[in-house]
Formats: sequence, C-alpha cells, structure tokens
Amino acid sequence: MNIKVKTGEIQQDHAELIVVNLFEGVTEPGGGATGAVDKALGGQIRRLIADGDFKGKAQETALVYTNGVIPAKRVLVVGLGKEEEFGLEAIRVAAATAAKRVRALRVKSFSTIIHGDRHGGISLADAVQAVVEGSELALYEFKELKTEPEDDPKEVNEMIFVVPDKSKRTEVEAAVEMGREIVASVSLARDLVNRPANYATPTILAQCAQEMADEFAISCRVLDEAKMGELGMGALLAVAQGTDEPAKFIILECNAGRDDLDTVVLVGKGVTFDSGGISLKDSKGMERAKGDMAGAAAVLGAMRAVAAQDLPLHVIGLAPTTENLPSGKAYKPGDVIRAMNGKTIEVVNTDAEGRMILADALAYAGRYQPNAVVDLATLTGAIFTALGDHAIGLFSNDDDLAASLEAAGQTSFERVWRMPLFQEYGEQLKSHIADVKHVGGRSAGAITAAIFLSKFVGDFPWAHLDVGCKEWTDEDKPYTPKGATGVGVRLLIQFLRDWVHRENGE
Ligand code: BES
Ligand code: MN
Ligand code: ZN
Repeated sequence: MNIKVKTGEIQQDHAELIVVNLFEGVTEPGGGATGAVDKALGGQIRRLIADGDFKGKAQETALVYTNGVIPAKRVLVVGLGKEEEFGLEAIRVAAATAAKRVRALRVKSFSTIIHGDRHGGISLADAVQAVVEGSELALYEFKELKTEPEDDPKEVNEMIFVVPDKSKRTEVEAAVEMGREIVASVSLARDLVNRPANYATPTILAQCAQEMADEFAISCRVLDEAKMGELGMGALLAVAQGTDEPAKFIILECNAGRDDLDTVVLVGKGVTFDSGGISLKDSKGMERAKGDMAGAAAVLGAMRAVAAQDLPLHVIGLAPTTENLPSGKAYKPGDVIRAMNGKTIEVVNTDAEGRMILADALAYAGRYQPNAVVDLATLTGAIFTALGDHAIGLFSNDDDLAASLEAAGQTSFERVWRMPLFQEYGEQLKSHIADVKHVGGRSAGAITAAIFLSKFVGDFPWAHLDVGCKEWTDEDKPYTPKGATGVGVRLLIQFLRDWVHRENGE
C-alpha cells in the first residue's frame, strides 16, 4: 500500500472514502475533524449515534454515504473505544479496523485523519506510526506460494493522511517512513515463518539474511558446520546431526567496529522444522513445527529495522539455524554433549532442541563483550500454559534490562511478564553423569528451560524472551491476520530505540 501525506481539511477531501473516528459513548462529535464532517453532512453522524447504530466501541465501524454534500463519496466512522482506555494500541486497532473495512468495500484509495493525534500525551509522530502499523499489518497477506490468480482480488492501494496543519507535514512524513520500516520488518519475519520448512531451510534463511544485509549495507557472515565444529559448538551440531540439511549460524552486524557505541546482541532460535527428533512429536498439528524459527525471523526483522533506521547502536543478530529430525544419525536421549563453553549436557528429550542450539549461541555472544544480550525463542509449550496469549515470558539476570523490556512491551503492546530464575529451580537440572541435565521434569517447564540457558550465559546482562506458541495465530486478531504473527519484532525495535534515546539523555 502506498501512503501519502497531504495538507488540508478532511471534510473537503476528494476521496472515495474518508475515515474519521469517535470515542465510545460520545453523543456530540465535537470540534475536531469528525465534528467538522458531521456538520458538513448536516448531523448524519450524530443521528447514527442517537439512533443507536453506532456506539464508538473498538473495532466498530459505520458507513455514511455523502450524496455529494461533501466531495468524498463515503465516510467511514471508526470507534476508538473508551477514552479512559485510549492509547497507542487503540490507535492501531482503530486503523486496522478501518483498513480492513475499506478493503472489504473494495475501495482502492482512502483518506484518513490521524487517530489520537496529540491526545492524552501521545505525540503526533507516535500516533502516525501507530496508524501505519495498524493499517498495514492488518492488510498483510502471504501469497508467495499461490500460483492461480484470485477471481476477485481485494487490495487497497493507497492511504492518504490528511493533515490540517501545514507546518506538521514533514514530521508526519518522517513518522510514516518510520512506521513503514517497522511494518516491512514485521512482514519479513511473518513471511519467513509462514514459509513452509521446504521453503525456509537453514540455507535459505542464511541467503535471506545475506540479501537483506546487502540491501542495507550491513555485515553478514554465515558459519557452516565445519566452522561450528572448530568453535566447539557441540550442542548446536548435536541437533543438526539428525538432518541432511546443513546447519547455518547466521551473524548480522550493524555498526561493526564502532567502539564508541553500546553493543547489544540479539539471539533468535532458528529451528526451521521441529519434529522433536528421536523424541518425536505427535503428528497432529506437526505442520506448525515450521514456525520454530520465529526467534531467528524476529532477529532478522529487527536487524532490518536497525539498519533501515541507521540506529546509532552496535547491534549483532545471531541466528543459529537447523532442522530437528529423527534419523540414524540423530542425537539421542541419554547422549552427553559438550557445548561451546565446555559444559557437558545430558540429553533427556531430543525435543528440547531449542535450548541446545541457544546454549552455543549465547556462549558465542560473549565474544562481543556486550552491554546486553536478548534472546528470543519459541522455546517451550509451558510458557503458553503459564501466560496464554497475552504476554511473552521474560527471564533476566538484570533488573534494568528487564525493566527496559517491560517498558518496550507496553509501548509496542507486545507485553512481557517477568518470570523467576530462583536458583532452587536449578535442582531440577542436576545430572549424575554430566554438568547439567537438559530437561527439568514436568513442573515449571519454561523456568527450568531458562535456567538451563543461564548456564551458558557469560558475565553480561541477559534477557530471555520465551515466545512459545506466539509465533502463530489460528484466529484473526485486529492487526494480526491468521498465520505467522511476527512476534517480537516491534518489541525488539522499540527496546533498541529506547536504548538509543536513553543514551542520548532524552
Ligand atoms: N519448539 C518447541 C516448543 C513449542 C511448541 C513452541 C509448540 C511453539 C509451539 C520446543 O522445541 C519443544 O519442543 N519444547 C518442549 C520441551 C520439552 C521436551 C521439555 C515442550 O515445550 O514440550
Ligand atoms: Mn522441540
Ligand atoms: Zn523447538
């Protein structure tokens, strides 16, 4: 979708459709753009409310035909929900709702006001970004593998922001650009997760990373299995030995060599297909196992945004990628494996492969003497049991880092909830034969997985985000259609942008 900015009054705009808004429970559209449109239409919007046809609830819309009274053909009123609950998320949802209604109406181009512009402490730029995110993410579709043209394609080509204040135009344009980069980065992650495992092997992911790096002139290196062997990455290679697809360790780097900048390492789990290995999963729903590289996809997405925005931060993205399959060569329950940091691991269940590959990636992250390391992984089903749909599991050895991620979670609405790393949970990982057992039994599965990871973390602030089951949605959400969600990308971008602002004392 093209996004344009023009200056003027929305009630004078010559559009197929214009979008205005209302809070829940408002009976008089008031003095803003919606009020101006209502007045121009002789009170039609007021009447909708008075007749009970529109309440202003979130995800509610009403369509008004203008009969030539104003230049636009139609007016779409979208609900903003309750004013007390208003924030960036309500803007995203309103924008998403409007965009989807426009698409359903088969309108190709529409104009909109900026929902929430400078309302209750929201800046103009943040409001614009939220409108772009909501509308574009809502219209995301994955069509790469369809070969037959749709009989009745629905596509919105253009959204136009109508800005009354001429002096704000450049600010709005810059915020549109920012929003578009974020959307492109989330869409990249969604595409990679939507792609089935035969279209997203470790080799293909490494190629995608390389292409993205070339496009934005950032550094990309890919370690092959021989190199991983030299480095002693026995845990990653143990998982990789069960498949014929060669594992790849992807390393993206922005602002390499800039010693003056803080260093943040992002690590993403990249299991391109998780069958469980010898501890084979149930075949029911196994097609979802293609999404087990969502952490790696989020890291690629976030790195894309860092590069596109040219953030002044030394950011490294690490993505250990492999398949987890059973075979005559596969690693087995009971095997003892030596990780890169020298620790020996007693394998219990080969389906706990994520923590194996992350063990080596976290050890590798230490090379950069990072100011922080954040890993993102579809690590456990247990985190979904604990937190369900509405929070990402956060584990951290550092309160400041945890607080930054919590704040970024609020802003991006990819909310995180901190879980404990009490050392007593570590008892569950005691092994008779090796330094550590890699599964800690039935209780506290997400916590013991995180404790396992902590054994491979050096002396640096570290946070682990368990996004198990959040990589995919079976139901349409306001701006997340069925399929890959792109979980974590906006959270990571927000976290990194906040870091830069803090450094600059803003
Ligand atoms: N990738 C899975 C966890 C997962 C399952 C994420 C479903 C998203 C959707 C992970 O590799 C795994 O299999 N974890 C096991 C660990 C167990 C064997 C200790 C789990 O959660 O059951
Ligand atoms: Mn698994
Ligand atoms: Zn897995």
